[in-house]
Amino acid sequence: MKRPIDTLICVNKANKDLAEAYAKILNITFCETELGDELSNKAFAKSLSNITSKDCIMLMDEAGLHLQMLHPSVFKIQVNFLSSQMEYRRIKGGGRNQLIAKAVGLKSNVSPVVLDGTAGLGKDAFVLASLGCHVYMAERNPWVRLLLEDGLRRASIIAENNPDLKSILERLKLLGSDAIELFKSQHMESVGIIYLDPMFPHPEKRALVKKDMQMLQFLVGEDEDAEDLLNSALSTKVERIVVKRPRTDQAIASKQVSYVLEGKRNRYDIYLQSGESRI
Ligand SMILES: C[S@@+](CC[C@H](N)C(=O)[O-])C[C@H]1O[C@@H](n2cnc3c(N)ncnc32)[C@H](O)[C@@H]1O
Repeated sequence: MKRPIDTLICVNKANKDLAEAYAKILNITFCETELGDELSNKAFAKSLSNITSKDCIMLMDEAGLHLQMLHPSVFKIQVNFLSSQMEYRRIKGGGRNQLIAKAVGLKSNVSPVVLDGTAGLGKDAFVLASLGCHVYMAERNPWVRLLLEDGLRRASIIAENNPDLKSILERLKLLGSDAIELFKSQHMESVGIIYLDPMFPHPEKRALVKKDMQMLQFLVGEDEDAEDLLNSALSTKVERIVVKRPRTDQAIASKQVSYVLEGKRNRYDIYLQSGESRI
């Protein structure tokens, strides 16, 4: 695996121990520094040029762990389940009428167990858990995975005083690293749906892509083994496998898709195995 990041920089004393532990997990250099309040994005990126020559660092500040892009543009992302976008989607996103809910076949009063084999930044998994599903997550990219872990850690602190969030987080578990390994584990006994959203094969132009997807493209690239992943999912006994794809792209597997749900930009290919009925 390529190593696009070699340094974790901590600019917040309160989070120093955690930042050091994270740097150890990733086996990258830990560095503590102070940030001038007045520092512009560009000046910040320049001030790090004697610490790393990479285009990206991990940054720990008072708001937790971020991926900080330094070149060609300066921006940072983190997993934030409480961001205004996530809140808006949770409250006004259409609930069980939204396409992802239909794709996994949610019915009233049933809370299926979903295995999200491509958790990424955890957005889809969080939406599914908000809709009542129990969601197991797998994420194999170590940088993305740590970001997700930190997002879950921060959310669980806030959840101590937020019962709604607490119950969502209780349904959301980051388990393994590689999904294919997870397909062989005892967790599969309870899984009713496998959800897959591998990186899209033809990345869109940077200007058109949201910052978090730009970052995933930088860190993960294309998931060239997506077909193996789907074939492994299809070889399990799980009855419903859902794959998110760009709307106009071909299906991944040679196996016939049972049916398709199309949205504006994406679509869901649904594979039903052994008698599951279409909803
Ligand atoms: C497009 S992103 C998923 C985005 C996610 N649905 C979200 O809402 O944030 C795809 C992710 O799947 C991960 N991935 C691909 N194949 C995997 C596998 N076999 N096991 C675990 N993770 C995998 C990649 O590392 C990448 O982070």
